[in-house]
Amino acid sequence: MKNFHEFTMERWMSEWETTVDYNLSESGVHPMSLGELLEISGTQVERLLDIEFHYPETNGLSELRETIALQYNGATKSNVFVTVGAAEANYLVMNSLLEAGDECCIVFPNYMQIYGIAQNLGLTTRSVQLCEEDGWRLDPAALDAAVGPKTKLIAVCNPNNPTGRILSAEEMDAVVASAERVGAWLLSDEVYRGAERLTDEETPSFFGRYDRVLCQGSMSKAYGLAGLRLGWTVGPPDCLDRLWRRHEYTTICSTMLSNHLARIALSPAVRPQILARTRARIRSGHDRIASWADEVDEIQLFESEAAAITFCRYSTPINSTELVERLRRDKSVLVVPGDHFGLDRHLRISFGLPHDILDEGLRRIGDTFVELRS
Ligand SMILES: Cc1ncc(COP(=O)(O)O)c(C=O)c1O
Repeated sequence: MKNFHEFTMERWMSEWETTVDYNLSESGVHPMSLGELLEISGTQVERLLDIEFHYPETNGLSELRETIALQYNGATKSNVFVTVGAAEANYLVMNSLLEAGDECCIVFPNYMQIYGIAQNLGLTTRSVQLCEEDGWRLDPAALDAAVGPKTKLIAVCNPNNPTGRILSAEEMDAVVASAERVGAWLLSDEVYRGAERLTDEETPSFFGRYDRVLCQGSMSKAYGLAGLRLGWTVGPPDCLDRLWRRHEYTTICSTMLSNHLARIALSPAVRPQILARTRARIRSGHDRIASWADEVDEIQLFESEAAAITFCRYSTPINSTELVERLRRDKSVLVVPGDHFGLDRHLRISFGLPHDILDEGLRRIGDTFVELRS
């Protein structure tokens, strides 16, 4: 059997996130409680008590799919397929559309799930690196050069994990043009859509810009409801049908309760309130991390545009995996090393946290840089 490629970052988090005092490794904002969700939505808890624990429709409750479709221009519920998180959505898309020997093109850095799946499926991977010197911009010429006649799928993450940058309209057009030129599928992971820092305008989706597109969404990040374990793919119905046949092998469906709670959270009256909560946390957390970074000479902060994470460069001559191990062991702080994205001398730090946790976690990271000076 060939070597299994582990999902290094998720492994790191699974192993340590519940053991540290200061977890600054999560990419979403601090989660909502069930009570907070019911209060924001004006839902009486009694309304939930009648829910019977059948399997829901295995592609997602019809009312939920209708509600999700409202977020995408031109979509109807037949374009929506509900999964157990965007993690399952990514897995199903890759396994349904590609097989060993196929070629895909991945824009780096990114969440790295697609890359790991590609390795495990035996795909040929071509890559395009976003340019750090140019504010993590996508170079259309580099993308076009990486996409060849054999490329069957192009994968992007927008807003981007780990950088939190949002593609411009021109960059989005360039992605579509490259995909269109060779007839490739476009897989767009859009789980941070709605978690913008600098604007209340939602990041545009790739849905509706190209026929062969699959867009991933999730309750985990922009809504602070990761524990619902509910995500989705929006795309052409015949393609979603292919995903469904694999979904029956992976999870069958997300839970009945999650389907109902997600429908409440995404309803037009509630969704804007949850996004306002998320953006408020991202904005205040960013202010704090920016002031901290001003004080720590070694840190160069990238001003992210969305998501509750920043991808900082640091100048201390220590490998990023070594540095995060030291932070975990000596300071009980968990952050993600740049190594997990193939970019050493960087840290991914989350800031959508309660301020006391964020401030103390950052203080400990700052202390470590000071200790490393000597
Ligand atoms: C870009 C991206 N896609 C997908 C996921 C998986 O999210 P979910 O909790 O919806 O499975 C994550 C989680 O961190 C992510 O950052």
